Amino acid sequence: MTSAAPVISDITYHELLDDPYPIFRRVRDMASAVFVAPANLTLVTRFDDIVRIERDPVTYSSDNPASLVNKVMGPTFMRKDGAEHAAGRKAIEPSFRAGTIKEHWTPRFAEICERLIDSISESGEADLFTALAAPMASLSLMEMIGFKEMPWQTLALWSQSLIDGAGNYARNAEIERKAIEAGAGIDAAIEAVLDEHRAHANPSILSSMVHADPPMSIEEIRANIKVIIGGGLNEPRDAILTLTLGLLQNAAQRDSVLAKPELWSNAFEEAVRWISPIGMYPRRVTRETDLSGVVLPEGLQIGLCVGAANRDDRRFNDPDIFDISRPRQSHLAFGAGAHFCAGTWVSRQTVGKIVAPMLFERLRNLHLREDAPPLIRGWVFRGPVSLPVRWNA
Ligand code: HEM
Repeated sequence: MTSAAPVISDITYHELLDDPYPIFRRVRDMASAVFVAPANLTLVTRFDDIVRIERDPVTYSSDNPASLVNKVMGPTFMRKDGAEHAAGRKAIEPSFRAGTIKEHWTPRFAEICERLIDSISESGEADLFTALAAPMASLSLMEMIGFKEMPWQTLALWSQSLIDGAGNYARNAEIERKAIEAGAGIDAAIEAVLDEHRAHANPSILSSMVHADPPMSIEEIRANIKVIIGGGLNEPRDAILTLTLGLLQNAAQRDSVLAKPELWSNAFEEAVRWISPIGMYPRRVTRETDLSGVVLPEGLQIGLCVGAANRDDRRFNDPDIFDISRPRQSHLAFGAGAHFCAGTWVSRQTVGKIVAPMLFERLRNLHLREDAPPLIRGWVFRGPVSLPVRWNA
Protein backbone atom coordinates (compact mmCIF):
# COMPACT_ATOMS: atom_id res chain seq x y z
CA MET A 1 0.00 0.00 0.00
CA THR A 2 1.30 3.46 -0.84
CA SER A 3 0.52 6.74 0.89
CA ALA A 4 1.67 10.35 0.80
CA ALA A 5 4.81 11.31 2.73
CA PRO A 6 3.99 11.87 6.42
CA VAL A 7 4.90 15.17 8.04
CA ILE A 8 7.03 16.12 11.06
CA SER A 9 6.36 19.64 12.27
CA ASP A 10 7.00 19.53 16.03
CA ILE A 11 10.75 20.21 15.85
CA THR A 12 12.74 23.38 15.27
CA TYR A 13 15.45 24.17 12.77
CA HIS A 14 17.83 24.71 15.69
CA GLU A 15 17.26 21.17 16.91
CA LEU A 16 18.20 19.94 13.45
CA LEU A 17 21.40 22.00 13.48
CA ASP A 18 22.39 21.01 17.02
CA ASP A 19 21.86 17.28 16.77
CA PRO A 20 20.07 15.90 13.71
CA TYR A 21 20.58 12.23 14.60
CA PRO A 22 17.52 11.69 16.86
CA ILE A 23 15.40 13.41 14.19
CA PHE A 24 16.96 11.31 11.42
CA ARG A 25 16.16 8.18 13.47
CA ARG A 26 12.55 9.27 13.89
CA VAL A 27 12.21 9.95 10.15
CA ARG A 28 13.84 6.60 9.31
CA ASP A 29 11.47 4.68 11.59
CA MET A 30 8.43 6.55 10.27
CA ALA A 31 8.60 6.10 6.47
CA SER A 32 10.91 6.03 3.45
CA ALA A 33 10.27 9.76 2.87
CA VAL A 34 8.97 12.33 5.36
CA PHE A 35 8.25 16.03 4.92
CA VAL A 36 10.22 17.77 7.68
CA ALA A 37 8.56 21.17 8.06
CA PRO A 38 11.41 23.24 9.53
CA ALA A 39 13.70 22.06 6.70
CA ASN A 40 10.88 22.70 4.20
CA LEU A 41 11.95 19.51 2.43
CA THR A 42 10.99 15.85 2.05
CA LEU A 43 13.85 13.83 3.53
CA VAL A 44 14.98 10.31 2.65
CA THR A 45 17.05 8.71 5.41
CA ARG A 46 17.27 4.94 4.84
CA PHE A 47 20.46 3.49 3.38
CA ASP A 48 18.77 1.13 0.88
CA ASP A 49 16.37 3.80 -0.38
CA ILE A 50 19.22 6.23 -1.11
CA VAL A 51 21.15 3.53 -2.98
CA ARG A 52 17.98 2.77 -5.01
CA ILE A 53 17.52 6.47 -5.82
CA GLU A 54 21.12 6.93 -6.91
CA ARG A 55 20.79 3.93 -9.26
CA ASP A 56 17.83 5.56 -11.03
CA PRO A 57 18.88 9.03 -12.28
CA VAL A 58 16.00 9.08 -14.79
CA THR A 59 13.43 9.18 -11.98
CA TYR A 60 15.63 11.07 -9.52
CA SER A 61 17.44 13.83 -11.39
CA SER A 62 20.33 16.02 -10.27
CA ASP A 63 19.21 18.62 -12.79
CA ASN A 64 17.14 21.35 -11.24
CA PRO A 65 16.94 24.62 -13.16
CA ALA A 66 15.25 26.29 -10.18
CA SER A 67 18.01 25.31 -7.75
CA LEU A 68 19.76 28.07 -5.83
CA VAL A 69 23.10 26.40 -6.59
CA ASN A 70 22.56 27.24 -10.26
CA LYS A 71 21.50 30.76 -9.41
CA VAL A 72 24.49 31.44 -7.16
CA MET A 73 27.20 29.53 -9.03
CA GLY A 74 25.93 29.25 -12.61
CA PRO A 75 25.18 26.07 -14.58
CA THR A 76 27.39 23.34 -13.12
CA PHE A 77 27.84 19.70 -14.13
CA MET A 78 27.02 18.68 -10.55
CA ARG A 79 23.42 19.65 -11.25
CA LYS A 80 23.22 17.96 -14.66
CA ASP A 81 22.50 14.38 -15.75
CA GLY A 82 23.76 12.12 -18.51
CA ALA A 83 26.11 13.39 -21.23
CA GLU A 84 26.35 16.98 -19.94
CA HIS A 85 27.36 15.73 -16.52
CA ALA A 86 29.81 13.18 -17.94
CA ALA A 87 31.54 15.84 -20.09
CA GLY A 88 32.18 18.03 -17.02
CA ARG A 89 33.46 15.10 -14.99
CA LYS A 90 35.79 14.08 -17.81
CA ALA A 91 37.20 17.60 -18.09
CA ILE A 92 38.40 17.72 -14.47
CA GLU A 93 39.45 14.07 -14.21
CA PRO A 94 43.20 14.52 -14.98
CA SER A 95 43.72 16.50 -11.74
CA PHE A 96 42.17 13.70 -9.66
CA ARG A 97 44.03 10.71 -11.17
CA ALA A 98 45.67 8.30 -8.74
CA GLY A 99 49.12 8.96 -10.23
CA THR A 100 48.68 12.74 -10.02
CA ILE A 101 47.56 12.49 -6.41
CA LYS A 102 50.52 10.32 -5.49
CA GLU A 103 53.26 12.11 -7.39
CA HIS A 104 52.08 15.70 -7.40
CA TRP A 105 49.54 16.51 -4.69
CA THR A 106 50.84 14.29 -1.89
CA PRO A 107 54.26 15.98 -1.52
CA ARG A 108 52.70 19.46 -1.91
CA PHE A 109 50.01 18.81 0.69
CA ALA A 110 52.49 17.18 3.10
CA GLU A 111 54.57 20.36 2.85
CA ILE A 112 51.57 22.58 3.66
CA CYS A 113 50.66 20.39 6.63
CA GLU A 114 54.23 20.37 7.92
CA ARG A 115 54.33 24.18 7.78
CA LEU A 116 51.03 24.55 9.63
CA ILE A 117 52.04 22.14 12.37
CA ASP A 118 55.45 23.85 12.68
CA SER A 119 53.65 27.13 13.28
CA ILE A 120 51.71 25.81 16.30
CA SER A 121 53.88 23.04 17.71
CA GLU A 122 55.54 25.17 20.38
CA SER A 123 52.37 26.80 21.68
CA GLY A 124 51.00 23.70 23.44
CA GLU A 125 47.37 24.54 22.73
CA ALA A 126 45.16 25.57 19.83
CA ASP A 127 41.73 25.33 18.31
CA LEU A 128 42.39 22.85 15.52
CA PHE A 129 39.61 24.37 13.42
CA THR A 130 41.44 27.64 12.74
CA ALA A 131 44.99 26.47 13.47
CA LEU A 132 45.07 23.44 11.20
CA ALA A 133 41.94 22.06 9.52
CA ALA A 134 40.57 25.22 7.85
CA PRO A 135 43.94 26.53 6.55
CA MET A 136 44.97 23.04 5.44
CA ALA A 137 41.76 22.51 3.45
CA SER A 138 41.91 26.01 2.00
CA LEU A 139 45.59 26.08 1.00
CA SER A 140 45.50 22.62 -0.55
CA LEU A 141 42.35 23.39 -2.55
CA MET A 142 43.93 26.69 -3.70
CA GLU A 143 46.90 24.73 -5.12
CA MET A 144 44.68 22.10 -6.67
CA ILE A 145 42.55 24.67 -8.45
CA GLY A 146 45.66 26.48 -9.70
CA PHE A 147 45.03 29.88 -8.09
CA LYS A 148 47.80 32.33 -7.20
CA GLU A 149 48.64 32.20 -3.52
CA MET A 150 46.27 34.22 -1.32
CA PRO A 151 45.48 34.21 2.42
CA TRP A 152 43.67 30.96 3.33
CA GLN A 153 40.89 33.04 4.87
CA THR A 154 39.95 34.50 1.47
CA LEU A 155 39.14 31.14 -0.13
CA ALA A 156 37.44 30.00 3.09
CA LEU A 157 35.24 33.11 3.09
CA TRP A 158 34.33 32.65 -0.58
CA SER A 159 33.45 29.03 0.10
CA GLN A 160 31.23 29.86 3.07
CA SER A 161 29.54 32.75 1.22
CA LEU A 162 28.68 30.48 -1.72
CA ILE A 163 27.36 27.74 0.58
CA ASP A 164 25.22 30.26 2.47
CA GLY A 165 23.97 31.67 -0.83
CA ALA A 166 23.07 28.21 -2.14
CA GLY A 167 21.01 27.57 1.02
CA ASN A 168 19.44 31.04 1.15
CA TYR A 169 15.84 29.90 0.70
CA ALA A 170 14.65 32.85 2.82
CA ARG A 171 16.23 35.23 0.25
CA ASN A 172 18.15 37.19 2.88
CA ALA A 173 19.60 40.24 1.07
CA GLU A 174 22.89 40.30 3.00
CA ILE A 175 23.57 36.61 2.30
CA GLU A 176 22.79 37.23 -1.38
CA ARG A 177 25.16 40.22 -1.46
CA LYS A 178 28.03 38.21 0.07
CA ALA A 179 27.49 35.34 -2.38
CA ILE A 180 27.60 37.75 -5.33
CA GLU A 181 30.75 39.37 -3.93
CA ALA A 182 32.40 35.95 -3.50
CA GLY A 183 31.43 35.04 -7.07
CA ALA A 184 33.05 38.22 -8.40
CA GLY A 185 36.23 37.55 -6.39
CA ILE A 186 36.44 34.02 -7.79
CA ASP A 187 35.87 35.17 -11.39
CA ALA A 188 38.72 37.68 -10.98
CA ALA A 189 41.03 35.07 -9.44
CA ILE A 190 40.34 32.75 -12.41
CA GLU A 191 40.96 35.56 -14.90
CA ALA A 192 44.31 36.31 -13.26
CA VAL A 193 45.74 32.83 -13.97
CA LEU A 194 43.89 31.42 -16.95
CA ASP A 195 46.37 32.51 -19.66
CA GLU A 196 49.21 30.98 -17.68
CA HIS A 197 47.35 27.64 -17.48
CA ARG A 198 46.55 27.82 -21.20
CA ALA A 199 50.22 28.38 -22.00
CA HIS A 200 51.62 25.72 -19.65
CA ALA A 201 49.63 22.54 -19.03
CA ASN A 202 49.98 21.31 -15.42
CA PRO A 203 48.10 19.08 -12.94
CA SER A 204 45.76 21.84 -11.64
CA ILE A 205 41.99 21.74 -12.14
CA LEU A 206 41.99 24.99 -14.16
CA SER A 207 44.64 23.56 -16.46
CA SER A 208 42.60 20.34 -16.88
CA MET A 209 39.55 22.45 -17.79
CA VAL A 210 41.26 24.58 -20.44
CA HIS A 211 43.13 21.63 -21.98
CA ALA A 212 40.07 19.33 -22.03
CA ASP A 213 38.76 18.14 -25.40
CA PRO A 214 36.62 20.15 -26.01
CA PRO A 215 37.85 22.80 -23.55
CA MET A 216 35.32 24.10 -21.05
CA SER A 217 33.79 27.47 -21.88
CA ILE A 218 34.60 30.36 -19.56
CA GLU A 219 31.02 30.25 -18.16
CA GLU A 220 31.40 26.55 -17.35
CA ILE A 221 34.83 27.12 -15.82
CA ARG A 222 33.47 29.86 -13.57
CA ALA A 223 30.46 27.80 -12.44
CA ASN A 224 32.36 24.57 -11.86
CA ILE A 225 35.23 26.23 -10.00
CA LYS A 226 32.59 27.76 -7.71
CA VAL A 227 31.08 24.34 -7.09
CA ILE A 228 34.53 22.97 -6.29
CA ILE A 229 35.20 25.86 -3.88
CA GLY A 230 31.77 25.44 -2.27
CA GLY A 231 32.08 21.66 -2.08
CA GLY A 232 35.80 20.91 -1.75
CA LEU A 233 36.85 22.95 1.28
CA ASN A 234 34.45 22.37 4.18
CA GLU A 235 34.36 18.61 3.73
CA PRO A 236 38.08 17.80 4.09
CA ARG A 237 38.26 20.40 6.88
CA ASP A 238 35.40 18.70 8.73
CA ALA A 239 36.79 15.24 8.04
CA ILE A 240 40.15 16.23 9.61
CA LEU A 241 38.37 17.50 12.72
CA THR A 242 35.94 14.59 13.01
CA LEU A 243 38.66 11.99 12.63
CA THR A 244 40.79 13.78 15.24
CA LEU A 245 37.82 14.06 17.60
CA GLY A 246 36.90 10.38 17.23
CA LEU A 247 40.44 9.31 18.11
CA LEU A 248 40.80 11.78 20.98
CA GLN A 249 37.56 10.55 22.53
CA ASN A 250 38.62 6.90 22.17
CA ALA A 251 42.14 6.44 23.49
CA ALA A 252 42.30 2.69 22.80
CA GLN A 253 41.45 3.26 19.13
CA ARG A 254 44.00 6.07 18.93
CA ASP A 255 46.66 3.74 20.37
CA SER A 256 45.81 0.97 17.96
CA VAL A 257 46.03 3.24 14.90
CA LEU A 258 49.33 4.68 16.10
CA ALA A 259 50.68 1.16 16.60
CA LYS A 260 49.38 -0.03 13.23
CA PRO A 261 49.48 2.77 10.65
CA GLU A 262 47.69 0.56 8.11
CA LEU A 263 44.54 1.26 10.20
CA TRP A 264 44.51 4.94 9.18
CA SER A 265 42.32 4.24 6.18
CA ASN A 266 39.73 2.40 8.38
CA ALA A 267 39.83 5.32 10.79
CA PHE A 268 39.19 7.82 7.99
CA GLU A 269 36.25 5.85 6.54
CA GLU A 270 34.76 5.45 10.02
CA ALA A 271 35.05 9.17 10.72
CA VAL A 272 33.16 10.21 7.58
CA ARG A 273 30.54 7.51 8.22
CA TRP A 274 30.10 8.58 11.85
CA ILE A 275 29.72 12.32 11.16
CA SER A 276 29.35 12.72 7.42
CA PRO A 277 30.65 16.15 6.31
CA ILE A 278 27.87 16.40 3.73
CA GLY A 279 24.76 15.32 5.60
CA MET A 280 22.25 15.96 2.84
CA TYR A 281 22.13 16.71 -0.90
CA PRO A 282 19.11 17.19 -3.18
CA ARG A 283 17.47 15.34 -6.06
CA ARG A 284 14.33 16.13 -8.10
CA VAL A 285 11.59 13.58 -8.79
CA THR A 286 10.93 13.62 -12.58
CA ARG A 287 7.80 11.40 -12.62
CA GLU A 288 5.38 10.21 -9.98
CA THR A 289 6.92 7.22 -8.28
CA ASP A 290 6.62 4.88 -5.31
CA LEU A 291 9.57 4.87 -2.93
CA SER A 292 9.17 1.90 -0.54
CA GLY A 293 5.48 2.61 0.07
CA VAL A 294 5.48 6.41 -0.16
CA VAL A 295 4.21 8.11 -3.29
CA LEU A 296 6.43 10.95 -4.50
CA PRO A 297 4.79 13.38 -6.95
CA GLU A 298 6.46 14.62 -10.13
CA GLY A 299 8.56 17.73 -9.54
CA LEU A 300 9.10 17.08 -5.82
CA GLN A 301 12.49 18.17 -4.48
CA ILE A 302 13.85 15.57 -2.02
CA GLY A 303 16.84 15.64 0.33
CA LEU A 304 19.01 12.51 0.44
CA CYS A 305 20.28 12.41 4.02
CA VAL A 306 23.47 10.40 3.67
CA GLY A 307 24.40 11.49 7.19
CA ALA A 308 21.29 9.60 8.37
CA ALA A 309 21.80 6.60 6.08
CA ASN A 310 25.34 6.21 7.44
CA ARG A 311 23.75 5.65 10.85
CA ASP A 312 20.99 3.32 9.63
CA ASP A 313 20.90 0.47 12.16
CA ARG A 314 19.59 -1.88 9.49
CA ARG A 315 23.04 -1.62 7.89
CA PHE A 316 25.49 -0.71 10.68
CA ASN A 317 25.68 -2.21 14.18
CA ASP A 318 25.72 0.41 16.94
CA PRO A 319 25.76 3.13 14.27
CA ASP A 320 26.12 6.07 16.67
CA ILE A 321 29.44 4.77 17.98
CA PHE A 322 32.83 5.66 16.47
CA ASP A 323 34.54 2.31 16.01
CA ILE A 324 37.47 1.93 13.63
CA SER A 325 37.40 -1.84 14.06
CA ARG A 326 33.89 -2.31 12.70
CA PRO A 327 33.71 -4.63 9.66
CA ARG A 328 34.48 -2.69 6.48
CA GLN A 329 31.18 -1.86 4.74
CA SER A 330 30.57 0.74 2.08
CA HIS A 331 29.00 3.99 3.30
CA LEU A 332 27.44 6.98 1.53
CA ALA A 333 29.59 9.87 2.77
CA PHE A 334 30.87 10.47 -0.77
CA GLY A 335 27.46 9.90 -2.34
CA ALA A 336 26.78 7.13 -4.85
CA GLY A 337 26.13 6.64 -8.54
CA ALA A 338 27.19 9.01 -11.31
CA HIS A 339 27.79 11.96 -8.97
CA PHE A 340 30.04 10.02 -6.58
CA CYS A 341 32.44 12.64 -5.19
CA ALA A 342 35.27 13.51 -7.57
CA GLY A 343 37.47 14.39 -4.58
CA THR A 344 37.13 11.05 -2.74
CA TRP A 345 40.64 9.74 -3.34
CA VAL A 346 42.41 13.02 -2.83
CA SER A 347 40.53 13.45 0.47
CA ARG A 348 41.34 9.91 1.60
CA GLN A 349 44.98 10.63 0.92
CA THR A 350 45.10 14.14 2.39
CA VAL A 351 43.08 13.56 5.54
CA GLY A 352 43.75 9.90 6.31
CA LYS A 353 47.32 9.53 5.12
CA ILE A 354 48.88 12.99 5.53
CA VAL A 355 47.17 15.31 8.03
CA ALA A 356 45.85 13.02 10.77
CA PRO A 357 48.98 10.81 11.03
CA MET A 358 51.28 13.87 11.02
CA LEU A 359 49.18 15.60 13.68
CA PHE A 360 49.30 12.66 16.11
CA GLU A 361 52.95 12.00 15.32
CA ARG A 362 54.13 15.58 15.82
CA LEU A 363 51.97 16.80 18.72
CA ARG A 364 52.78 14.50 21.62
CA ASN A 365 50.10 13.72 24.20
CA LEU A 366 47.45 15.48 22.13
CA HIS A 367 44.25 15.66 24.19
CA LEU A 368 40.90 17.42 24.43
CA ARG A 369 40.43 20.25 26.91
CA GLU A 370 38.01 19.49 29.70
CA ASP A 371 37.36 23.21 30.19
CA ALA A 372 36.57 23.85 26.51
CA PRO A 373 34.58 21.01 24.95
CA PRO A 374 34.37 20.66 21.16
CA LEU A 375 31.33 22.08 19.43
CA ILE A 376 29.71 20.21 16.53
CA ARG A 377 27.02 21.74 14.36
CA GLY A 378 25.02 21.39 11.18
CA TRP A 379 22.89 18.91 9.31
CA VAL A 380 23.32 19.76 5.59
CA PHE A 381 27.03 20.16 6.31
CA ARG A 382 28.12 18.80 9.69
CA GLY A 383 31.38 18.87 11.60
CA PRO A 384 33.20 20.35 14.60
CA VAL A 385 33.12 24.15 14.46
CA SER A 386 35.66 24.27 17.25
CA LEU A 387 38.11 21.66 18.52
CA PRO A 388 40.26 23.08 21.34
CA VAL A 389 43.18 20.79 22.24
CA ARG A 390 46.41 20.75 24.25
CA TRP A 391 49.68 18.82 23.84
CA ASN A 392 53.18 18.73 25.27
CA ALA A 393 55.00 21.68 23.72
C1 HEM B 1 35.88 14.35 3.06
C2 HEM B 1 35.77 15.09 1.98
C3 HEM B 1 34.60 15.11 1.02
C4 HEM B 1 33.33 14.61 1.17
C5 HEM B 1 32.73 13.88 2.37
C6 HEM B 1 32.62 14.89 -0.07
C7 HEM B 1 31.29 14.52 -0.34
C8 HEM B 1 30.66 14.67 -1.56
C9 HEM B 1 29.31 14.23 -1.86
C10 HEM B 1 28.35 13.57 -0.88
C11 HEM B 1 29.06 14.53 -3.17
C12 HEM B 1 27.77 14.24 -3.95
C13 HEM B 1 26.92 15.49 -4.08
C14 HEM B 1 25.73 15.33 -5.00
O1 HEM B 1 25.59 14.28 -5.64
O2 HEM B 1 24.91 16.25 -5.07
C15 HEM B 1 30.25 15.16 -3.70
C16 HEM B 1 30.39 15.60 -5.00
C17 HEM B 1 31.50 16.26 -5.47
N1 HEM B 1 32.67 16.51 -4.79
FE1 HEM B 1 33.09 15.96 -2.90
N2 HEM B 1 33.46 15.57 -0.92
C18 HEM B 1 34.69 15.72 -0.30
C19 HEM B 1 35.81 16.33 -0.82
C20 HEM B 1 35.91 16.88 -2.06
C21 HEM B 1 37.07 17.58 -2.56
C22 HEM B 1 38.37 17.83 -1.79
C23 HEM B 1 36.77 17.99 -3.84
C24 HEM B 1 37.58 18.76 -4.85
C25 HEM B 1 38.84 19.10 -4.70
C26 HEM B 1 35.42 17.51 -4.14
C27 HEM B 1 34.77 17.70 -5.33
C28 HEM B 1 33.51 17.22 -5.62
C29 HEM B 1 32.86 17.41 -6.92
C30 HEM B 1 33.45 18.13 -8.14
C31 HEM B 1 31.60 16.81 -6.82
C32 HEM B 1 30.55 16.72 -7.91
C33 HEM B 1 30.65 15.36 -8.56
C34 HEM B 1 29.62 15.16 -9.67
O3 HEM B 1 28.58 15.79 -9.67
O4 HEM B 1 29.90 14.31 -10.51
N3 HEM B 1 34.94 16.85 -3.03
N4 HEM B 1 31.20 15.23 -2.71
